[in-house]
Amino acid sequence: MKKIAVLASGSGSNAENLVKYFRKGDLARVSVILSNKKDAFALERAHRLGVPSLYFGRDDFYNSSKILETLKEQEIDCIVLAGFLWLVPDDIIEYFSERIVNIHPALLPKYGGKGMFGMKVHAAVVENGEHETGITIHYVNSNYDEGSIIFQAKTEVLPTDSPEMVAEKIHALEYEHFPRIVEKIVASL
Ligand code: GAR
Repeated sequence: MKKIAVLASGSGSNAENLVKYFRKGDLARVSVILSNKKDAFALERAHRLGVPSLYFGRDDFYNSSKILETLKEQEIDCIVLAGFLWLVPDDIIEYFSERIVNIHPALLPKYGGKGMFGMKVHAAVVENGEHETGITIHYVNSNYDEGSIIFQAKTEVLPTDSPEMVAEKIHALEYEHFPRIVEKIVASL
């Protein structure tokens, strides 16, 4: 059974969806949920789901090898970023080369880069009068949202849509596709 570590900074609804999806089969499990936010609802979800969790601070991540060592000790096969807002340090990217995946709530390369996350992305999409938006699942490298693209899916943006309505459409796409794409990657490891 392969082991997936999910990193999440916020609500963690994708993390929860991944946990539940992989529990239905025997290919892999989300074996730990890590967060850089002490009060992230993702950690509360982990607790409710019975998944081990770990909070880490900036120093743990950038000025020590604590997180890499933890991931190695736990024999993690694949890292999934699900609403995780920090850049991943190079030592982790090198060790987990082609085994770190991120989901971005827009059609990259549009609406990506530092500071573009969550509702900020949807507000910009609405403000610019886009007719469509979507999700991008990509490998992670040392720049925000620039790793090679694995999968994209689109959804329509109506002139009457608010950023909140766009967020709902995006979450629906994420729940539908993200576990399946992660499954394919894990299966190929
Ligand atoms: C998701 O929509 C994800 O695509 C986005 O944050 C949301 C997290 O929701 N990620 C980014 O914006 C990364 N730049 P969740 O915490 O409910 O899974």
